[in-house]
Amino acid sequence: MASQLPQHIAIIMDGNGRWAKSKGLPRLEGHRVGVEIAEEMITAVHELQIPFLTLYAFSEENWNRPTEEVDTLMGLLEIFLKTRQEKMINKGIRFRTIGDISKLPASVQSTIAETVSITKDGQQMTLILALSYGSRDEIVGAVNKIVQRTSDVGHRGEITEQEFAKCLDTADFPDPDLLIRTSGEYRLSNYLLWQLAYTELYFTKTMWPDFSAQELSKALEEYSKRERRFGKISEQL
Ligand code: FPP
Repeated sequence: MASQLPQHIAIIMDGNGRWAKSKGLPRLEGHRVGVEIAEEMITAVHELQIPFLTLYAFSEENWNRPTEEVDTLMGLLEIFLKTRQEKMINKGIRFRTIGDISKLPASVQSTIAETVSITKDGQQMTLILALSYGSRDEIVGAVNKIVQRTSDVGHRGEITEQEFAKCLDTADFPDPDLLIRTSGEYRLSNYLLWQLAYTELYFTKTMWPDFSAQELSKALEEYSKRERRFGKISEQL
């Protein structure tokens, strides 16, 4: 196992549709298997005692997909949360979301609120799902909060990076140390643009439904070999 583990892993779970197509299956089957793999990764990360995991489950842009696919993803999400609540509590997993969940169906919103509430004391790991999430939207939201606040108090002081970060959806979490994207796409797709400033990036051609604990180990092995200099030179570290 990798010697130096990240404290926060962020994943772009990509390739469900292509995986299904390559097997002559409907796209929706790719998402169904995708949820199983997401669960395997949550378990693996929990066992490694890595305290934060953020999964890109539904982007702001995903609303543009066919209604049937959007409905399936919402249904999978709701079932996932309802059936895993007890497991999360038992394993000390605190559940949180980032993104504009007010756009989600009401029943999914209430399942999310319930899951956040009943898992709030989890101490082992924080599982964060990015839902209806877009990083630019999050950043503009933070700017608007600051504008509102400064006009409320009637002065226009400069704000620091730390103050800005506190206005993002991720205010309660550290920045990711490692980003994994599956399916051979080399983009960030509007995911955590502010938070990934110094994150190590790991891309694999494996489609998400084929991702596995071994693949995760490979990513962690690669991560442990990287030298994170944060702008300094090797000798200063
Ligand atoms: C990308 O594959 C995947 C998504 C848009 C959805 C990811 C969601 C899940 C795996 C399920 C939700 C997870 C939980 C934990 C409930 P794609 O459809 O873009 O694949 P393609 O690029 O091959 O078409």
